[in-house]
Amino acid sequence: MTKLKRLDHVAVLVPDLDQALAFWQDRLGLSLDHVETISSMAVKIAFLPLGESEIELVQPTTEDSGLAKYLSKRGPGLHHICIETDDISTKLAELNEKGVRLIDQEPVLMDDGRQLAFIHPKSTGGVLVELYQLP
Ligand code: CO
Repeated sequence: MTKLKRLDHVAVLVPDLDQALAFWQDRLGLSLDHVETISSMAVKIAFLPLGESEIELVQPTTEDSGLAKYLSKRGPGLHHICIETDDISTKLAELNEKGVRLIDQEPVLMDDGRQLAFIHPKSTGGVLVELYQLP
């Protein structure tokens, strides 16, 4: 079975980044590394490193994206966890073989060379799980 390496990040969906940072940064004490706007995904993400992992605060930047609809329907809170693997294609094939429902059948290649794919929460007991293979 393809090895999983570490928890890469936990993503929290928020309606307002500044308001969320007032807790995660100012009150709890995590450090803000940077904020990135990803227009192709209509989100703004704040990255807060924590050991070998990160907390990602994700704010939708439009009203009509899937994430924005999710936020207005279910409210803010935990959105997904992300686990790093060395070989995402093999991992997806293994999961498929075991009848696990995947959102992405094939890895999605990002601009920075990262590959990612999501596993459907129907197959995980309600947790949206993202897989990463870093370049
Ligand atoms: Co993620």
